[in-house]
Amino acid sequence: MPQILATEIKIILNSGLSKTIPVLLFLPEAIVSKDRNICSVGERFNMAFKIVRTESRLVRRILASHGFSEVHSNSNDFNLMWTGSHLKPYVLRSLQDYQKVNHFPRSYELTRKDRLYKNIQRMQQTHGFKNFHIIPQTFVLPSENQEFRNCFAKDKGPWIIKPVASSRGRGIYLVSNTPTNIKNTFMHLTNYSLNKKSSDYVSCDDPEVEDYGNKWSMSAVLRYLKQEGKDTTLLMKQVEDLVIKAVLSAELQIAAACKMFVPHKTNCFELYGFDVLIDSNLKPWLLEVNLSPSLSCDAPLDLKIKASMIADMFSLVGECMFKQKGNSPFGIPVFILPSRMSPFEGSVTLKLFLQDHSVCKTGFAAAPWGG
Ligand SMILES: Nc1ncnc2c1ncn2[C@@H]1O[C@H](COP(=O)(O)OP(=O)(O)O)[C@@H](O)[C@H]1O
Ligand SMILES: [Mg+2]
Repeated sequence: MPQILATEIKIILNSGLSKTIPVLLFLPEAIVSKDRNICSVGERFNMAFKIVRTESRLVRRILASHGFSEVHSNSNDFNLMWTGSHLKPYVLRSLQDYQKVNHFPRSYELTRKDRLYKNIQRMQQTHGFKNFHIIPQTFVLPSENQEFRNCFAKDKGPWIIKPVASSRGRGIYLVSNTPTNIKNTFMHLTNYSLNKKSSDYVSCDDPEVEDYGNKWSMSAVLRYLKQEGKDTTLLMKQVEDLVIKAVLSAELQIAAACKMFVPHKTNCFELYGFDVLIDSNLKPWLLEVNLSPSLSCDAPLDLKIKASMIADMFSLVGECMFKQKGNSPFGIPVFILPSRMSPFEGSVTLKLFLQDHSVCKTGFAAAPWGG
């Protein structure tokens, strides 16, 4: 391993129990910086990455700006693999202990809407309903169709129907027995991928302005709520609680899959996007957990937030600066991105697809910011 230079002391930290394992501290400003110490550190330590089955320009930019070289997707000579899909068991089994990949096996236990609901429902049964009352009332169709119909007879909605394994608002619609406007998807679904197509969508070109238009930073939302006299410390504690409980509900299955397929305990990490809706009582509700949350940067604010988040994630994951056996610095790290806070208002006509959908109770109060 090359000697650590005096100029690198600030960006290579000693980690691990004995504080002898050098890991790289990633800096978001590296993507614009001309500082040779940052750019050359990956080169000097021969660090490499590969990107497989995904287009991740920001991940590539952060790694390349720290001197990591990109290798062909067939190469085994990498420290980090960033992939758009899950790895086959034989690929996982072949990982060396310094190598890392951005998915756990079986993380669909968290990211498929039906699996998430079933896992949380199990926790409600074993640990008390009120302790895991973190998701809106849900039914999985077609198996719970009768229960849903009984409930719908009493509670006329609106209800939101979602495919169990889709994303970006695709395939979602609302049902209600009350006369409300359920056809207006811009009003009901706060997905950026949908709302950016609305003629009313207001974007912002200044990365320093975090509270203008339809996309705000989370800090700006919290500042706004605080000004309105809301207890944002309590709110964020509850959001953290919700995230931890969601992860716990899928932990056993994912840990079992890791035991079966992953040779070293630090091989896998994962970035999840949590969709959290805050109701008018300031109670957070988990809507879903996103696999591979969007890292695209349409607005300058996206770049500012996502570059910092990815740099933090790679620092936390702990990129070992040498390729030898037995040097893994941490336990299994999971890095979590609270992806957004979604407003919702409103709702309407009964039309049901009964295959592989989940139905959730909607009807939370509208929030005053865009999603
Ligand atoms: N229970 C709910 N109540 C109110 N709005 C909801 C509810 N579930 C989803 N939504 C709205 O629909 C959007 C899409 O739902 P989501 O579960 O995140 O699916 P997708 O994978 O398509 O993003 C959310 O961002 C939110 O705006
Ligand atoms: Mg979503």
